[in-house]
Amino acid sequence: MTRVTYLVWSVLVLTVIINGISGQEYKIELSSSHVTWRVENKNKSISVAATVPGGIYTDLQNAGIIGNVLDGFNDVLARWVAYDSWTYETKFQVRPEYLEHAASILVLEGVDTVAFLEMNGRPFGLTNNMFVRYVFDIKQYLKAGENELGVRFMSPLEAANARSEKHFTAPQCVPQEYHGECHANQLRKMQASFSWDWGPAFPSVGLWKNVSIEFYNGAIIRTVTTHINRDKFHWYLKIVAHLESGVKKQKVKGYLSAKLSVNAHQSLTIGKHIELWTRDDGKIEAELNMTIHANVISLWWPNGYGEQPLYDLEVGLMNEGESHVSRKQVRIGFRTIELVEDDASTALGNTTGGQGLTFYFKVNGYPLFMKGSNWIPSNILPELGADKEIVDHLLMSARDTHMAMLRVWGGGVYESDYFYQKCDELGILIWQDFLFACAMYPTDAEFLETVQVEIEQNVNRLQHHASIAVWAGNNENEVAIRGNWYNTQPEFDRYKSEYIKLYVDVIKPIVERLDPGRRYLVSSPSNGRKSEEDGYIALNPYDAHYGDTHYYNYIADNWDFNIYPQTRFASEYGFQSFPSLKTMRSATNKSADFSLDSDYSKHRQHSPNGNNNIEVQITRHLRLDKNDTDYFRKFVFFSQISQAMSIKAETEFYRQSQADWFTMGALYWQLNDVWQAPSWAGIEYGGKWKMLHYFARRFFAPVLVSPRLTLTGDVDVYLINDRFVPIIDAEIIVDVFNWSSLTPILTQSYPANTEALSSTKQASLDIWKKENKEEILLKFSLKCMGVESPPNYIFPVPLKTVKGLSTPNIRVKLRRLDVSSEDENRFVVTIKTDAIVLFFWLESEVDGHFSDNGLILTEGETQLYFTTKVSTNKKTIQRGISYSYYMH
Ligand SMILES: *[C@@H]1O[C@H](CO)[C@@H](O)[C@H](O)[C@H]1NC(C)=O
Ligand SMILES: *[C@@H]1O[C@H](CO)[C@@H](O)[C@H](O)[C@H]1NC(C)=O
Ligand SMILES: *[C@@H]1O[C@H](CO)[C@@H](O)[C@H](O)[C@H]1NC(C)=O
Ligand SMILES: *[C@@H]1O[C@H](CO)[C@@H](O)[C@H](O)[C@H]1NC(C)=O
Ligand SMILES: *[C@@H]1O[C@H](CO)[C@@H](O)[C@H](O)[C@H]1NC(C)=O
Ligand SMILES: *[C@@H]1O[C@H](CO)[C@@H](O)[C@H](O)[C@H]1NC(C)=O
Ligand SMILES: *[C@@H]1O[C@H](CO)[C@@H](O)[C@H](O)[C@H]1NC(C)=O
Repeated sequence: MTRVTYLVWSVLVLTVIINGISGQEYKIELSSSHVTWRVENKNKSISVAATVPGGIYTDLQNAGIIGNVLDGFNDVLARWVAYDSWTYETKFQVRPEYLEHAASILVLEGVDTVAFLEMNGRPFGLTNNMFVRYVFDIKQYLKAGENELGVRFMSPLEAANARSEKHFTAPQCVPQEYHGECHANQLRKMQASFSWDWGPAFPSVGLWKNVSIEFYNGAIIRTVTTHINRDKFHWYLKIVAHLESGVKKQKVKGYLSAKLSVNAHQSLTIGKHIELWTRDDGKIEAELNMTIHANVISLWWPNGYGEQPLYDLEVGLMNEGESHVSRKQVRIGFRTIELVEDDASTALGNTTGGQGLTFYFKVNGYPLFMKGSNWIPSNILPELGADKEIVDHLLMSARDTHMAMLRVWGGGVYESDYFYQKCDELGILIWQDFLFACAMYPTDAEFLETVQVEIEQNVNRLQHHASIAVWAGNNENEVAIRGNWYNTQPEFDRYKSEYIKLYVDVIKPIVERLDPGRRYLVSSPSNGRKSEEDGYIALNPYDAHYGDTHYYNYIADNWDFNIYPQTRFASEYGFQSFPSLKTMRSATNKSADFSLDSDYSKHRQHSPNGNNNIEVQITRHLRLDKNDTDYFRKFVFFSQISQAMSIKAETEFYRQSQADWFTMGALYWQLNDVWQAPSWAGIEYGGKWKMLHYFARRFFAPVLVSPRLTLTGDVDVYLINDRFVPIIDAEIIVDVFNWSSLTPILTQSYPANTEALSSTKQASLDIWKKENKEEILLKFSLKCMGVESPPNYIFPVPLKTVKGLSTPNIRVKLRRLDVSSEDENRFVVTIKTDAIVLFFWLESEVDGHFSDNGLILTEGETQLYFTTKVSTNKKTIQRGISYSYYMH
């Protein structure tokens, strides 16, 4: 154990900044806000201003060469862009004194993807991995005065095809319905940029992250990783500074220090002299250990379970003989996290569920149920994915619906630093897939070499975030081999051994070396440890007794709890719906497009048989005639109802199953969208919440009364409690309503109790059997001092067959919340009805957000809030408000 030294930090701070740049004496920023970039195509017929960070589709759109990429059929109309080759060029000035430093390092934070680099006409490097930070020593290519950097991109489609010729690996191509491109798996590039079942193909090229040149002597700190352990009285913080001294072996000599600010008045400081030889690549790590009394630190908790205190940690390296300090600042949270895979019988006894292993996250010593969703890139163009406003909106939407975990899915990108910082702040844990999804991957030397660098850099970059919970090697590739998704069965042994080579032999040891505190799962879904024991390709990777599962069923009745198989942890499940007409209108205004049979609709539905699957679900429960003059609008609306009800049923089934299967996670597919098209998302492209996302706030509520209609026709009622205190002496109130009246015909109450952090079956009710099932609905609520739980409902028969549902008289009134000026964008919406209303759905022309929506109205008057994005007068808003509901 190292003694903590309390030094005065200001000694270091004084000497930190020269030219306003920490870390190196000079830095030339080469983003387009600092220098001018141009991009031209191969035959030079196009030459336009370019953006860095940026990408070719953004640039051509800005130049008016192509239309808005997400309009109409532009994804295929602009496909020629991806077949051409593009060169990005800039000119910049280098002052002679810059060149006096030992290192002149070009840093490309992100190059998408295959490119050849030239400085002043001399080639000096090439890139082939979008997820790698490239660092080149360009001292010999630079001159004082004007220099010219050129980045020649190869067509990603040609690059992928060329590699596939040599290193083919399945699948042959994506389904035709995707209107996509083949062999994305050959490139270390966002896999979804060649199309997905929820997204268009935009095989981008460009410098999608920052570019700069650093001039320095000695070494700089590139990244900082932190390793946190605790005992009863202390936290042990190991800080690893990852140093770079250029790109060749060198000696690093200096003073390394770290300061942890524990509160406004107190910081802990530690430091030591270092004298180290780097490896041949100029890199070396140096460590500092800090011991912190437990009582000066507050625990970091996932959203819904507590606060998210974060502490600034500043690490500095003062090179001997130099006047500057290279600094790196990170914000860390103190928490422990474990993925527990123990004998399940310890939790469930000698039952069917008790066979196999548990699979749950224990945070700060408590087993916590992980509620959440799956994250896909926030934009199909990678350069736009870090947009703060969009990231904020999506993550806050997750936070506001009680989500504690998002899975960053393997077909996207390692997200921006900002994304993970925001997750740290909001308490959103991240299940981070490595970026391999739904395909077999090559294992030739060139591929494996760049993958190693990718894994190392990204683990080091993200490792310090409190939000990162677990790493997973890939999305669905174990199940794909076992299930022969890509016709790999004839070569099973080859594919299995390549799979093991990539995810087990290459990736696993890197992750475990750099981040020993977190679990690395080889695949998602998998049987976890059991898959590993079974040689990595389990006989049934969906085994309910192990690990996580993905479950999709488009045929059985998705509103029925009883169709869903048990699981320890549901990391994907979902159902499609259409985006709202308002969102669709941002992609097309041709009225002929607004029909299921239009070429436009067919073009945007990438899921084979997708619209039929939606229709099957809708028509099981809701009445919708094909000859209805309002068919398309209703189909869109009903698809959102059906999706919301399906995901509600499945999610509540998983939450209930904590009681008898120790199910401990429900992450539905998917949080967000990349374009205006039918998809599994709960939030539309542009940010509008679908009915599903409003439902999520209720079905993920920390305390929930959750009834289940069983196969025998009983209603099992569960009380779910995600709080640290038990619920004692509560009452579950059941109101039985006749569809034709707002007054319950019967009200009963049942005593309810449950432990902390648990789900308990309370009662099996058969009260409604006496009644005529078509004529009633059941409303469940919880009565308990100081505990809130949203109401819940049982519809005993499919809604299309209920009797007595009548057309309501509805009045919606808007009133400005007459308080402080801060709330000038907030309005009270009062809804009055004289009959029961199903799925009452408010929409607004003015951009804004309702506090609740998609409601079952069983009371004469309901109030909620509407908050507009920008301030607008009340009349305009009132005029733009419309509503829908289900009626047959
Ligand atoms: C030059 O490239 C553009 C874009 O790929 C293409 O449309 C055009 O036909 C080409 N011109 C010639 C002369 O090849
Ligand atoms: C990129 O560089 C600009 C300065 O050119 C800086 O403001 C910005 O924060 C950088 N972005 C990232 C993600 O580091
Ligand atoms: C820091 O602590 C760890 C274990 O607690 C130990 O293995 C390591 O050697 C220590 N490092 C230094 C630099 O003291
Ligand atoms: C569990 O059940 C099996 C079969 O019913 C029985 O043979 C076994 O003894 C039981 N184990 C325990 C620990 O009760
Ligand atoms: C369709 O019209 C709306 C309203 O005028 C407009 O905001 C939208 O941009 C238009 N969409 C397209 C694709 O032009
Ligand atoms: C649609 O047609 C069916 C018969 O094919 C008829 O029963 C129904 O009333 C029609 N619905 C509407 C809304 O016209
Ligand atoms: C529901 O109301 C209707 C119409 O008032 C009535 O005919 C029916 O008997 C009622 N059903 C029940 C179960 O109360």
